[in-house]
Amino acid sequence: MKKIVISTGGGDAPGLNAVIYAVVHACNRRGWEVYGSRKGYAGFLNIDDMIRLLPRDVEGIYSTGGTILGSTNKGNPFSRPVENLAGEIQIVDVSDKILRNFNRMGFDCHIAIGGDGSLDIAHRFAEKGMPVIGVPKTIDNDLEKTDRTFGFDTAVATATEALDKLHSTAKSHNRVLVVEVMGRDSGWIALYSGISGGADVILIPEIPFDMQEVCNKISDNELHDKDYSIVVVAEGAGTNTGMTFNKGKGEQGRDEMILGGVGEWVAAQIRTITGKDTRSLVLGHLQRGGSPTTFDRLLALRFGAAAVRLVEEKIFDHMVALNASTMIAVPIADAIKKRKKVDLNSDKIMTAREIGICLGDKDVLSEQR
Ligand code: F6P
Repeated sequence: MKKIVISTGGGDAPGLNAVIYAVVHACNRRGWEVYGSRKGYAGFLNIDDMIRLLPRDVEGIYSTGGTILGSTNKGNPFSRPVENLAGEIQIVDVSDKILRNFNRMGFDCHIAIGGDGSLDIAHRFAEKGMPVIGVPKTIDNDLEKTDRTFGFDTAVATATEALDKLHSTAKSHNRVLVVEVMGRDSGWIALYSGISGGADVILIPEIPFDMQEVCNKISDNELHDKDYSIVVVAEGAGTNTGMTFNKGKGEQGRDEMILGGVGEWVAAQIRTITGKDTRSLVLGHLQRGGSPTTFDRLLALRFGAAAVRLVEEKIFDHMVALNASTMIAVPIADAIKKRKKVDLNSDKIMTAREIGICLGDKDVLSEQR
């Protein structure tokens, strides 16, 4: 009989509940107990936030968005902001306390579902002696060593549907519509949704963009009797002159920059350079919401079941990963070394160029012909 604890950390992503569902059922079939720590690691610090999970508690949740356990991207136990008696914020390390409570509560393994930040924390706990298994989550698809993270397919579907809808209004008003999508420093969501959603221009962090090239494409559209354009821009995209866009350091305790603003800036530039009526919108957290697609649901269920197999085989400090069509285990340390970027030689990039999408750089294909 084993006692397993699950946590969900970082930004939520469609499919979190499907992982929880699979873990609870796969453990239950083995006669193991499962607990869920609310809001990341809160359950290890306050028993009220540690909840028993039975199959009846997870009935039907595989198809729902969000996480029944709650999540946070401000709760790093190794540097936790805590208010002292004088009302000042101090950064404290509560990892020893969490490890002590993990052992005291009699857990055999912690299944940590998260992106690079949460998996980095999980790995640090593994180094301290906690048996840990990771499950790769993020709509950004920027984790190394797995072909896909769950949540990405749903985010792309949401962004693509939005682009489909924007075509008709852009066309009716002969406008340029600039859509900013999420993805941090990687252009996966922008590239996949932009190609599938008929974008004229896709700007990704991996290719610093030249505003003049973007405007040339928009003006060239008119030569083909197309008076409107759709521009998809990843929140982490930057110019070839070194401009990047962020809204500051974010709330206290959050060590990352909050990205955003590039869409509005690009729209203003297009308006000035081409004189075209231009609007911008930010899809934002819409991309993180809703029911997971069939692909994400299945992937999340497979990840959850595979994580429980790793517990059985005692392969700790590893993350379940999708490799071609199979489930494999990779050391968490390898998955978090660096963020996965779009490969500029991939067929998706080639496809975009072949079908005439401007990627913000020189259109060498049309120059060659
Ligand atoms: O990592 C997922 C993600 O949605 C990023 O694409 C985005 O930059 C960030 O999280 C937004 O975080 P928050 O929910 O804290 O605004």
